[in-house]
Amino acid sequence: MPHRIGVLLSGRGSNFVALADSIAAGRLPGAQIALVISNREDAPGLVRAAERQIPAQVIPSKGLQREAYDNLVIAELKRAGVELVCLAGFMRLLSPYFVASFPQRILNIHPSLLPSFPGLEAQRQALEYGVKFSGCTVHLVDENLDAGPILAQSIVPVRDDDTDESLSARILAEEHRIYTDAVRLILSGNYRIEGRRVIALQNQP
Ligand code: GRF
Repeated sequence: MPHRIGVLLSGRGSNFVALADSIAAGRLPGAQIALVISNREDAPGLVRAAERQIPAQVIPSKGLQREAYDNLVIAELKRAGVELVCLAGFMRLLSPYFVASFPQRILNIHPSLLPSFPGLEAQRQALEYGVKFSGCTVHLVDENLDAGPILAQSIVPVRDDDTDESLSARILAEEHRIYTDAVRLILSGNYRIEGRRVIALQNQP
């Protein structure tokens, strides 16, 4: 049975594309993106899915209460047999009910070294704070914003001449790399969680 992944996005979808490319290139053996869901019908990520013949669906969130919306999304993910949910620029908080529906099976990518700079415009927050290093984080999703045990991080130095755009671009390249690494770890099952710590286990011979 392939590992069926569901991707939730709201926009550009470059992290989705990175995962899809990793699967196509054999970097995530046994993985398959079973379904892409966007809450916005104008999300460019939907076009990227269509180009790759990956099933995609729009479930508009406008006007719906959080749980009512999440119920619709959960139903579609379950119908598609999804076992792992990857958030990829999905601009909505998940309800505790959603989180409980896929226990420790929801991943998110964030463009800062968490716990620094959670929330929106993390790259701008980092620049304005004046940190010399920022980066990105893949973490398991819990009920709180940009929290949850950390699976992977990558450091990106901040240059004196960086703009929001230049820093974001260098961070994004690292996002694409570590998201695949984190999905590979989760799908391998070769880890254990102690408190907040995700500890990779050595591969058994
Ligand atoms: C990325 O920077 C990701 O870290 C954040 O939202 C952005 C999504 O970009 N959560 P994309 O849609 O994957 O290109």
